[in-house]
Amino acid sequence: MDIGINESNRKQVADKLQKLLADEHVLYIKTRNYHWNLRAANFAELHEFYEEQYGELEEAIDEVAERIRMIGFLSIGRMSEYLKLTELEEGKELTDAGEQVANLKKDHESIIKYLRKCIGDFEDLEDMGSADFVTALMQQHEKMRWMLESFLPK
Ligand SMILES: [Fe+2]
Repeated sequence: MDIGINESNRKQVADKLQKLLADEHVLYIKTRNYHWNLRAANFAELHEFYEEQYGELEEAIDEVAERIRMIGFLSIGRMSEYLKLTELEEGKELTDAGEQVANLKKDHESIIKYLRKCIGDFEDLEDMGSADFVTALMQQHEKMRWMLESFLPK
């Protein structure tokens, strides 16, 4: 393929996106787990809120995987590889709403910091399309993080 970025640069971008794909999967599963096993006074509200969030993560997962394909590589699609690549921890089972929300917020913060670094890295690798892509995704995670934080006491 010839889209004006050499193969070595495309590969470096793709590898960073694979790690992101792994993190997004872990966060997706965790959010879904909490949606199921939540115990809270405001159960209905938070149950639905988690559903919106994992729906958004599911779309993000698809976009990350397809971005990797667009720059010329196969996307990782196996759980065993995600678990090796991710920096997020699945942790123990949580049912308490406050603990769940705090845990999810922390994971979004990890992803935001990772994405912020990716923006500069992708620019250095001359892949402005991927830099733009991760910039938008970072903003999406910033919004999700803020919404989670709004459920926590000040
Ligand atoms: Fe459900």
